[in-house]
Amino acid sequence: MTARARAHTNIALVKYWGKKDRQLIIPQTDSLSLTLDQFYTDTAVDFRDNLDRDHLIVDQKEFPATKLGKVTRVLDRVRELSGERRYAVVNSTNHVPMAAGLASSASAFAALAMAASHAAGLDLSRRDLSRLARRGSGSATRSIYGGLVEWHAGHDDLTSYAKPVMEKVNFGIEMLAILIDTQQKKVSSRGGMELSVKTSPFYPTWREIVADDMVAMKRAIARQDIDAIGHLAEENAMRMHALTLSADPAFTYFAAETIQAINLIKNLRENGLNCYYTMDAGPNIKLIYNQQDRAQIIDQLTPLFGRDRLVVAQPGPGAHLLKN
Ligand code: DP6
Repeated sequence: MTARARAHTNIALVKYWGKKDRQLIIPQTDSLSLTLDQFYTDTAVDFRDNLDRDHLIVDQKEFPATKLGKVTRVLDRVRELSGERRYAVVNSTNHVPMAAGLASSASAFAALAMAASHAAGLDLSRRDLSRLARRGSGSATRSIYGGLVEWHAGHDDLTSYAKPVMEKVNFGIEMLAILIDTQQKKVSSRGGMELSVKTSPFYPTWREIVADDMVAMKRAIARQDIDAIGHLAEENAMRMHALTLSADPAFTYFAAETIQAINLIKNLRENGLNCYYTMDAGPNIKLIYNQQDRAQIIDQLTPLFGRDRLVVAQPGPGAHLLKN
């Protein structure tokens, strides 16, 4: 049986940065994100007779057999749960406005979890789907749901899952990604967070910060207070990035243009235009603001970055099945 699913990526407002269990991907802390409408992955999974291994095709290119590790881990779990014995062909297409490093493992593994479980005849609850997606990539746990989503860290496979904070988000919060190119050698989020946990002397403090930020962020969301959400998200992201600078060896995801963007955003704020920023394991900046300020913000960013490097995204839906 074949099943096809779509999942959207998400951007964390309270970041996940560190694992307690590498195999099961149990995080050190809770985290909270916004699922976005603009960036998504469509994935078809087909368990077939006569295959001697799993196959993965992404954007029409077949992956080498040696690079299937995380995908196989999710498929193995599906086989374990369903009794399906055959191997699968996984065919995935990423939809991003431009090829600019915004494709994310979050949408990829959430779509895979949904498509693979249905192709194997399972009808998992969304909580169980989030646990399955988690085995591929931590942030994928949250992409099972739309809108504002919390990943409850838990302590084992059963207790580490996502739950919705607010699925229909219509109080005007919006994100804009500034696509910043870099020639810097990339440090994967997986490797970067591991080094941070192991070597940053500030890691214990980060755990405390996240516990406080989760409470404050949920309160700000309940008030639909975009300024408080943006302020907290910005502070949380910078504290996460302080872990990379305090690791041994120290590293950073900042590029020169990242700092330029941050300075411009601070400047806009000083001039009364409320917008905030967050960033992940790469140099791109994502602005958080009220959609009523979108036109003004784009006007201010365009001279420095060019309109085609600015991508507006709104709250998006959770993972769902597509008709074949
Ligand atoms: C900075 O989910 O990519 O985006 O679990 O190792 O696959 P793995 O890591 P990943 O890390 C995401 C890190 C982040 C913050 C976040 O999304 O919460």
